[in-house]
Amino acid sequence: MRYIWLFLSLGPCALFAQHKPLFDTTGTAAKLQWFTDAKLGIFIHWGIYSVKGVGESWSFHNGAMPHADYMQQIKGFTAKHYDPAAWAELIRKSGAKYAVITTKHHDGVALYDTQLAPGGRKKPLSVVAASPCGRDVISPFFTELRKRDIKCGAYFSLIDWSDPDYPGFLRDSSRYKIADDPARWQRFSQYNQGQIAELSTLFNPDLFWFDGDWEHSAGEWEAAKIRAVILAKNPKAIINGRLQGYGDYATPEQNIPIETPPGPWELCLTSNDNWGWQPQDTVYKSTHDLIHIFADVIGHGGNLLLDIGPKEDGTIPPGQVKLLEEIGQWTGAHAEAIYGTVAGLPNGHFYGPTTLSKDSTTLFLFLPGGTGGSALIKGLDNKVLSAEVMGKPIALTHRVVGKISWSKVPGLVFVDVPEEAKDPWMTVLKLKLDGPVKLYRGQGGFN
Ligand code: GLC
Repeated sequence: MRYIWLFLSLGPCALFAQHKPLFDTTGTAAKLQWFTDAKLGIFIHWGIYSVKGVGESWSFHNGAMPHADYMQQIKGFTAKHYDPAAWAELIRKSGAKYAVITTKHHDGVALYDTQLAPGGRKKPLSVVAASPCGRDVISPFFTELRKRDIKCGAYFSLIDWSDPDYPGFLRDSSRYKIADDPARWQRFSQYNQGQIAELSTLFNPDLFWFDGDWEHSAGEWEAAKIRAVILAKNPKAIINGRLQGYGDYATPEQNIPIETPPGPWELCLTSNDNWGWQPQDTVYKSTHDLIHIFADVIGHGGNLLLDIGPKEDGTIPPGQVKLLEEIGQWTGAHAEAIYGTVAGLPNGHFYGPTTLSKDSTTLFLFLPGGTGGSALIKGLDNKVLSAEVMGKPIALTHRVVGKISWSKVPGLVFVDVPEEAKDPWMTVLKLKLDGPVKLYRGQGGFN
């Protein structure tokens, strides 16, 4: 027989230690606390690609349209109905505790008032300098988020396919090799790192969300230096994992991990099939499906960063608004099972996601596919003090079945769930245990 007591205090620190971090992790676990407690973030892909509604940056890179035509979209970016307070309010209502917005995608167009110009240009390449919008759209958004205690994340693409000094351009043609012209790469690096420093100074983001690190090595990007510069300005800034080993957490994209990633992690996910607004892409994931994905993610200790793509005028498509509002109804009714919890029971104990309170004396069961009459927990070596349905004043009865008096193997806990307990999207049960969770993980013999 084998017992496992969950060592809940073994947080990111221990995991980083196993993975030989490339940087000093002192204080990393502490600075990540708000992030691992937050569970839900909203990702926003907004840029000139929403003028024609084409793929963000990839449309010209992959040859779906000429680069010049793609860049012409800047002339149509108006932000004329942009209401940053309404955006922040929608995000608050969804139950998200942070938001991450594109400050510059792989197309090189900044959404803030950068003072730096890419190679060979006199003017900065930004919606401030070159679009009818003519203003920084990031500052007012961060201001509104901060008014609501929502943390601010800045997405920044390391790749800049529009900068003549950047080697990569189209999928099948690049400009040069770094080894052949290191000075040119240096000019690009200076520009790119200069913009990262600008973001620090102008916005002091709580989180830097880099993207595109795969095109170059840590050495070429000078990832260690980028990290150091950010932390010199704000030692508490969190950096996502797309910095060639110099980030704080992993970022699986679109696909749900089956094995829990080691250390803190965040699944970034589109609400339909694309990151930015595209007129033909109107089939959204359902609220039901997103909530089931979200429960699975937090049950494995991760965060969900759910993406929306506003239109060029700043309006958020109604389908996305509806999703966020409905998710908010569910997160609101189940807040205690979500925020500030930790990953739940390892696989095998319950047929669905679970989370635990930090002290592991409260167990939350997320019932997949409705109520199903009863919930069954195996190998739970605790007494259940009480069971209730979250969001409804319904106390539940539970039974312990198959407990053998002389064996240490715990019985099966059945919690009966009546039909009226059913949540339209996902029912959650709250079980108070007689102490920190204790699990039997054996093969069930006599002792
Ligand atoms: C990918 C894509 C990019 C998108 C990002 C979001 O890395 O390159 O277009 O912004 O995913 O995670």
